[in-house]
Amino acid sequence: MAKISYVNGRYVHHAEGAVHIEDRGYQFADGVYEVMAFYNRRFVDENLHMKRLARSLAELHIKPPMSAKAMRMVMQELLARNDRIDGTVYIQISRGVAKRDHHFPKIHDSSIVMVITGAKMPKAKEVREGVSVITCPDLRWARRDIKSISLLPNILAKQAATAAGAREAWLVNDKGIITEGAVSNNAIINSKGEIITSPKDNNILGGVTRETVLNLASKAGLKIVERSFSIKEAKAAKEAFLTSTTSNVLPVTRIDGIKVGNGKPGTITMQLLELYYQHIYKQTGKRWS
Ligand code: PDD
Repeated sequence: MAKISYVNGRYVHHAEGAVHIEDRGYQFADGVYEVMAFYNRRFVDENLHMKRLARSLAELHIKPPMSAKAMRMVMQELLARNDRIDGTVYIQISRGVAKRDHHFPKIHDSSIVMVITGAKMPKAKEVREGVSVITCPDLRWARRDIKSISLLPNILAKQAATAAGAREAWLVNDKGIITEGAVSNNAIINSKGEIITSPKDNNILGGVTRETVLNLASKAGLKIVERSFSIKEAKAAKEAFLTSTTSNVLPVTRIDGIKVGNGKPGTITMQLLELYYQHIYKQTGKRWS
C-alpha cells in the first residue's frame, strides 16, 4: 500500500505532497503542529492533543483550517488509507500562503498537512537500562507553551545530544534551571520519593504525556511537586525520566556523564512506565511485552 498524506484538502501520494513556496510555514515558521501516537489504529489521548492544537492556533491567531470534527475525520481517513497499525500522525497547520510580508495577511486560508509515520519508540535496551542526556543552554523564545513549528534551538540541542551519543538534551536557562528536553518533558525523583517536574507555564511545552503520567501518578498516591529544579539538583536526584508521545516514560540514568542514583532505572520511574503502558492498553489494546 502506498503511503498517503493529506495536503490542503487532498489525499496524495506522500512523495508528491507539496506546499506552495510562499506558505508562511515554509518562509516564517508561522505555524503549529501536533504529534499523536496510535496503536491498533486507535489514537492515544486524542482529546488532549486536539485541545492543545486548538490552543496553539488560538494563541497565534491562526484560523483553524477546518472544524475539529473534520480534522478527526481526516485522521481516520488517513489511517484507513495507510497500512500502518502502530505509528504517529503529524499535523501541521500554518497561517497559509501569502506574499511575503511579516504582518498577518488580510485574507488567507490556513494550510494543513497530515502525515502518518512509524513511531520511533525507544529500544527495549534503552527502557531496560535507561538513557543518557546532556545539558545545553535553552536558547528558545518566551512562549514555549505554544507547539510552534519554529524549532531551531530544539534542533541544535538535539543535534548536540546526538553528536555526544546521548538520547536527549536537557535545556538549561541562565539561572541553571532545567526547563525541559529538546523534544520531551522531564522529571526527577528525590530521596523522599517526590516526583519533581517543571510547572506548566510559558517555559515549557505542556506535554500530553506529562499530563497523563502526572494524573496516573497522583491516582497511584505518588507525591508530585510542580516546581523548577536545577542542574545540580538533577545530578543529585535518585531517579530521573523523560516523557513524550514518542518515548513514553523513559528512564534517564546519566546526565552529562554523571550517574543518576545508582545508574539504573528507578523503581518509581518503572512504576510510572507500567501505569502509562496500562493507560495506552485501555485506549488502544496495545500490549508492550
Ligand atoms: N515532541 N517538550 C517539547 C519541546 C516537545 O517537542 C515535546 C514533544 C514534548 C512532549 O510532549 P508530548 O508528551 O505531548 O509529546 C515536550 C514531539 C513528540 C515532537 O516534536 O516530535
